[in-house]
Amino acid sequence: MSYYVTTPIYYVNAEPHLGHAYTTIAADVLARHMRQRGEDVFFLTGTDEHGEPVTLAAEKLGITPRELGDRHAANFKELAARVNVTNDFFIRTTDPEHAEVVAEVVQRMHDNGHVYAGTYEGWYCPRCADFKTESELDEGNKCPIHGIVVDWEKEDNWFFKLSAFQEPLERLYAERPGFVVPEIRYNEALSFIKGGLRDVSLSRARLKWGVPVPWDESQVIYVWIDALLNYYSALRYARKGEDLTDRFWPADVHLIGKDILKFHAVIWPAMLLAADIEVPRRVGIHGFLLLGEHKMSKSLGNVIDPNQVTDVYGADALRFYLMREVRFGQDGEVSPEGFELRYRNELANEYGNLASRTLAMIARYRDGVVPEAEAPEPLRADFEGLAETVQDRIDALDVSVALDEIWRRVKRLNAYVQEEQPWQLSKDPAESERLDAVLYGAAEGLRTVSVLLHPFMPESAERLLAALGREDRSLETAHFGAVPGGARVGELGQLFPKIEPAAAPAA
Ligand code: MSP
Repeated sequence: MSYYVTTPIYYVNAEPHLGHAYTTIAADVLARHMRQRGEDVFFLTGTDEHGEPVTLAAEKLGITPRELGDRHAANFKELAARVNVTNDFFIRTTDPEHAEVVAEVVQRMHDNGHVYAGTYEGWYCPRCADFKTESELDEGNKCPIHGIVVDWEKEDNWFFKLSAFQEPLERLYAERPGFVVPEIRYNEALSFIKGGLRDVSLSRARLKWGVPVPWDESQVIYVWIDALLNYYSALRYARKGEDLTDRFWPADVHLIGKDILKFHAVIWPAMLLAADIEVPRRVGIHGFLLLGEHKMSKSLGNVIDPNQVTDVYGADALRFYLMREVRFGQDGEVSPEGFELRYRNELANEYGNLASRTLAMIARYRDGVVPEAEAPEPLRADFEGLAETVQDRIDALDVSVALDEIWRRVKRLNAYVQEEQPWQLSKDPAESERLDAVLYGAAEGLRTVSVLLHPFMPESAERLLAALGREDRSLETAHFGAVPGGARVGELGQLFPKIEPAAAPAA
């Protein structure tokens, strides 16, 4: 089966920050997990380079939007590599192949009778590139996201008849209660639809930086219409000489932050219906990473640089922290202190130490070979159904609960070793069989959690599996007791070394 997962495409008006890394990492966890299940996966991320947000930022720097795009697209690509994500393609909306598909689909919407000429008059936030109603603004006509006073605009535009899709969208939502997750966002989108849909501008007259409207070259296509189509256009040209559309469309899940819900859960499916294209299966919404009480954002100036964190602690630690600290779907606070705490207590102590102790005991007491023994009963019971639960939680996009479930077993293994005290058992030859079972249990438990942790912490899980003498990371093998003893263990080194405070990134 195929599985197509996407991230939003990021604006190239500024450097990437932790909030961007967050969505990309979550999407990578899904992609890697699905590959473990043997699915045919396509994972897309990229950059949104047209429109006002980028034009304005470039103007400020005295460079062209293209130059700014090149600079930051490179940064976003580097970020993806640094946090070790396995995207199959990186799309840029300045790719000529993308522009071709945008023109084609918009033309189809037009030919199907869903586009007309009109005049937009109303509020507009150039930073959101979004038209705002009075009720969407804060006091003093301020954008609630960017805190700036928005503009009153009057422009002759081409319009998309979004209002004509009210009924089809309501039907879509009724037929597919899982179309938007979590449920709170489904309800939010549905009540927005039921509140009555107004037509939206499909083009901008004053801007030059964008894809020209195919039947009216004096206008460019509105940046959101252009950007949303990336999910569809990428499949046409991501592989030279091959069109992947039939293989992967409709997308299985668009992961996005809650700030761009309306575009993805209302406008996007309506656009696709207008062009006779199948709508995606699901839109998965996560909350905001907060620093203190505020959303981490460049415009508020409160950002953590993911490059600094990965330089010092590595990609796995950051991936783990973000997936564990904040319940996926909700807002959550992050902080350098919280990060260090989890690094030390959970990664270094609970996982890293358990691994090195287990390997050292197997080396010392059993000549470096995992004993062949029956899987010890208490552990077997504790691991029962774990892989299925993880799979189920990931399917529900409940990524952090999946990780909680795995981590409960890491803690359980620690407690088990502590209770059984293999270092005492080793002193008594009569306890030899018991020691075999305990060491096998610890090694097998570590193997099982590491297979399940692999999508979250690929490098560390891989190192540990290699040290346990096990190569296979398919989900089928993530059952406690599935693999017998007999493997020769190797060197591991420290998975999560102690970091001197001087090296740690400043808050
Ligand atoms: N270019 C548009 C998206 C077009 S998709 C067809 C855009 N770009 S953005 O760069 O401003 O933000 C994109 C995404 O970054 C957000 O939806 C969210 O996924 C992520 N985040 C940015 N800041 C964030 C936090 N502070 N916390 C969590 N995610 C955040 O909007």
